[in-house]
Amino acid sequence: MLNQSELNLTPSPFSAARRQVIQAGGLIASSLAAPAIWAAKAPIKVGVMLPASGTYAPLGQAIRRGLELALMGSGNKWGGRPVDWVFVDDESKPAQAAEKAARLLTRDRVDLLIGSVHSGVALAMAKLARDRNKVLLVPNAGANALTRESCAPQIFRTSFSNWQTIVPIGKLMRDRGIKRAAFLTWKYTAGLEYSEGFREGFERHGGEVVLDLSLPFPSLEFTPLLTQIAAAQPDAVCCFFSGSGAAKFLIDYAQAGLKAKIPLYVTGHVTEGILHTLPGAEAQGVVSVLHYADGLPHAEDKQFRSAFETTFGQPPDVFAVQGYDTGLVLSKALSTTQGDTQTDGLMKAMEGLEIASPRGRWKMSKAHNPIQDIYIREVQGQRNVFKGIAAKALADPATGCSLA
Ligand code: BEZ
Repeated sequence: MLNQSELNLTPSPFSAARRQVIQAGGLIASSLAAPAIWAAKAPIKVGVMLPASGTYAPLGQAIRRGLELALMGSGNKWGGRPVDWVFVDDESKPAQAAEKAARLLTRDRVDLLIGSVHSGVALAMAKLARDRNKVLLVPNAGANALTRESCAPQIFRTSFSNWQTIVPIGKLMRDRGIKRAAFLTWKYTAGLEYSEGFREGFERHGGEVVLDLSLPFPSLEFTPLLTQIAAAQPDAVCCFFSGSGAAKFLIDYAQAGLKAKIPLYVTGHVTEGILHTLPGAEAQGVVSVLHYADGLPHAEDKQFRSAFETTFGQPPDVFAVQGYDTGLVLSKALSTTQGDTQTDGLMKAMEGLEIASPRGRWKMSKAHNPIQDIYIREVQGQRNVFKGIAAKALADPATGCSLA
């Protein structure tokens, strides 16, 4: 796996833009010498839509770094070809997503697409990828439909379905004696699926959801909802938020005096990548479930964390792992196709892939979603500490997917 000196990782990597310039220069020189080789070794163009602004910007940056680290780990080439990234800020705005993705295909002539964080953006990209017969790798967005009723041969997810990362918390909470819970979230595809998934997992084990609250994405006006929770006095609160909005939620929850009275159990997206931004102990002791944790026993995780910290000067989070795994999937598939990005061959090369990931080994399901372990974690200091396994090799049900 990754070894910094063997794999030629530099402590402070070139920016993506600088790498593109260097690769282009190399190509000009080789094109004069040997046109046939130039054609075979021309860069692969990868169009990447991620949020670089707004509440999900930290997630977008972590995914981008994970992708870049994976490429560095294979000597800056996949399938023997250098890679030219074309990064686009999708601003987590679904209404603009189809147009931005279409521009990547038509104007920038990218060979394949990666994106995005926000479920609504990814759903728009997936429709386009299907219609234009281009491969799309989804490095975060959990919209269940992507690998259920809207699954397609061209769409591969390297992250999770929203269902996978909430349902296991119901049993965990019931095992800890919680009977009545409130749920709150942002009102859009992902939030609504988290709300449904929470109800499914909690009620299946005899729990009762006494309040189900939401606010528009990406509003930070949590106070009226917290007032309702204080009045309802549930045994616990569960929620889905992420990025800088999640940090604001944790601060508001503590400032409302609720942290000391009503325990928080969350999908791990809430406490990933933001703990260092909190002013005090707002997240301490918060319990969550997710497909990654700090302190996992896998050798791949130790090597990945060390390379990531050396390269970027910060510890990685789950989003960085997902970006990295997206790179591992592409690296494997493109080495099978010997750098050919033609859609049919690439799709075939990604079918059933097994990835030795920092999160633990996972397998691409028939519906193109990871079959993976879901961990129990607890915030201690600035870490989401690994506490055990909530669900082993959990596969999304893939309901309505014609591939499964
Ligand atoms: C989503 O929109 O699917 C999503 C966004 C952030 C974290 C997890 C899921």
